[in-house]
Amino acid sequence: MDTRTPEELLAGMTWSQKLAQLQILWRRDQDDALALARGGIGALFWPQSAERTNALQRAAIEESAHGIPLLIGLDVLHGQFTIFPTPLAQAASFDRSVPAADARISAAEARSGGVNWTFAPMVDVARDPRWGRVVEGFGEDSFLAAALGAAKVAAYQGDDLTAADVLAACVKHFVAYGAAEAGRDYNTTDVSRRRLRETYLEPFRSAVAAGAASVMAAFNSLNGTPMHAHRRLLTDVLKAEYGFEGVVVGDADGVAQLVRHGVARDEADAVRQSLAAGLDIVMGGPELAGDDVPLIERGAVDAARIDDAVLRVLRLKKALGLFQNPFADAAAERTAPTPQTLRTAQDAAERCVVLLKNQGAVLPLPAGTQRILLTGPYATSTDHLGAWVQHFGAQAGTLADALRAELPEATWTVASGAEFLGPSDADIREAVLLAAKSDLVLIAVGEPSSISGEAGSRADIRLPGDQEHLIQAIADTGVPFVVILITGRPLVVEAWIDRAPAALLAWHLGTRGPEAIARVVAGAVNPGGRVPMTFPRAAGQIPIHHDAENTGRPARTGGSMAVHRWDVGLQGPNNLDDYYTSKFLDLERGPRFAFGHGLSFTTFCLEAASLSTSEIPCTELRAGARVVVSASVRNVGERDGDDVVLVYLSDPVASLAQPVQRLRGFRRVAVAAGEAASVSFELGVDDLGFWDDEDRFVLEPGELVLTVTDGTDAERLALNVTP
Ligand code: BGC
Repeated sequence: MDTRTPEELLAGMTWSQKLAQLQILWRRDQDDALALARGGIGALFWPQSAERTNALQRAAIEESAHGIPLLIGLDVLHGQFTIFPTPLAQAASFDRSVPAADARISAAEARSGGVNWTFAPMVDVARDPRWGRVVEGFGEDSFLAAALGAAKVAAYQGDDLTAADVLAACVKHFVAYGAAEAGRDYNTTDVSRRRLRETYLEPFRSAVAAGAASVMAAFNSLNGTPMHAHRRLLTDVLKAEYGFEGVVVGDADGVAQLVRHGVARDEADAVRQSLAAGLDIVMGGPELAGDDVPLIERGAVDAARIDDAVLRVLRLKKALGLFQNPFADAAAERTAPTPQTLRTAQDAAERCVVLLKNQGAVLPLPAGTQRILLTGPYATSTDHLGAWVQHFGAQAGTLADALRAELPEATWTVASGAEFLGPSDADIREAVLLAAKSDLVLIAVGEPSSISGEAGSRADIRLPGDQEHLIQAIADTGVPFVVILITGRPLVVEAWIDRAPAALLAWHLGTRGPEAIARVVAGAVNPGGRVPMTFPRAAGQIPIHHDAENTGRPARTGGSMAVHRWDVGLQGPNNLDDYYTSKFLDLERGPRFAFGHGLSFTTFCLEAASLSTSEIPCTELRAGARVVVSASVRNVGERDGDDVVLVYLSDPVASLAQPVQRLRGFRRVAVAAGEAASVSFELGVDDLGFWDDEDRFVLEPGELVLTVTDGTDAERLALNVTP
């Protein structure tokens, strides 16, 4: 057992040896990787087996100058061999246990093969569904992202990082990456201080409080400073203010990209600026200490800063127990799912499905001998894993097989038209003919995984190809149908949603996605998911999210003036009250599906919402007092089901205009038919105050409104905060 302390190790290291510890590199070729390990590199990407990882660790320990073990990193985002729903789908569960289950199984599978560091969770708040990376995070709401991100960090890391089934987590991408202008990946961001605090930083603060071992800097520049060189945020906020003692890692070649951003002369300058700003590990780029010739000279960065970075890296390796035992037990390596991990992944997937629409209770399908046509590109596609999975052989089945197994008495016809950029006219004609001979049609449409995720921005977020025409053609037949929407992002569904009697939002649900969908369709599972990111009516509305501020001229909702015709606009206003308001002339107001929307096969009603007090002084709140919001939900329908209760805060009169609502609590509860369940939420100063634009958190006296809602019912409660 190696008992050297990080400080002792540091004392014996040369400048080059220190720099080598501050880098993670990819090397597909094992000999190249071994050479780096011998040279004292700090971290490598996973070489894809326990045996190869162990060989690298052996080289590092036995042949490098100081015998320091390696961090072995990998993006394990929503599964290693057992693939869980995408993180955005997980957010739809409104259930902390879903990301936690993913993280526990992912960690056990990955660590067994020698990975000790995952680049997850991604907690970037995202309000622009054109951005492909929305699929990797928890949606548009910072409170939800903060809660689910913290749950995931805790589950990846467990209580003891030395355990054989946990990973060091890395929350990413710090910060405001999701604010990319126009939703174009890697694009510039420009964000006010208050919005940075309220919206984008909050999930990071929460993940750090949950003990996250590392944080990844984001590719974007923020208000002119690329995040890899952002000293105020990396050092003053993250490390000093949040007390983050872990490692800040750069994103892939993100340091070298400071040259392209236009703030560094060359790569050496970029490295110097990043390390000085507070970055601890450079990902990719030129070797910092290749052949013992340092890329940056001693003195280019304050020596104490470099020592601090090295100590952070060494302490993480200590915490992971790598000095005691850096080796994975190759005999216990997991390389495939087990029946239990698949069961857990399926449970998780079932919790993520959202029932968007269900006119005339088309769903669930009765078990019986009806004739069902299954069509659309997802009928026979196995593309259910979603973006950001490593290609280690994970495989999902097809909806056709899962549905046949779940509803065996039905007569199934499958007309796939399997091309996402299709279906062709001939496919559509065939589907229409078959629909005419069916009692019901299931249309499984969506985005292939490959068009969401990194660099997966889309300007047009309707269903790709001719899928909308397929839906229209089936709608024209008059045969009842259900749309199953499998997607990595919210889509614009205006062209067909009003014609669809029922629609299920099924995301990319992972290895057991088809089975989960089939169980919902058949009613074995009552869907309880909720939309975690607004579905706009048109891409022109973006960004559109639930916690926007009011304007001085808010648009009226509802009513006959919902859409102004262009000619009315050209002739001048005919209704002054309504005309000069914040709206689009050519679009119905409001979102298509709002944050929090989701139906059930049963009916709930909200009862007895109350506050523990209707009045509380600021002083008491600042001293730690909490206000309790309680309510109860009754299942008045005939099926058991899950309801999601949300608590929103609004602050109608404040020194800075506040969002019309801010999520302050959520709880998913299972309620049996005829029964009721109580829920309660504790709110403290953090929940009731807000950030001003000078980085101060303020709590102001005045009347606050707390709205308790399950999406159908809502009760408003007044809380008077006195001086
Ligand atoms: C992504 C990160 C990821 C890294 C390493 C980058 O391109 O932005 O999210 O962790 O690659 O794979």
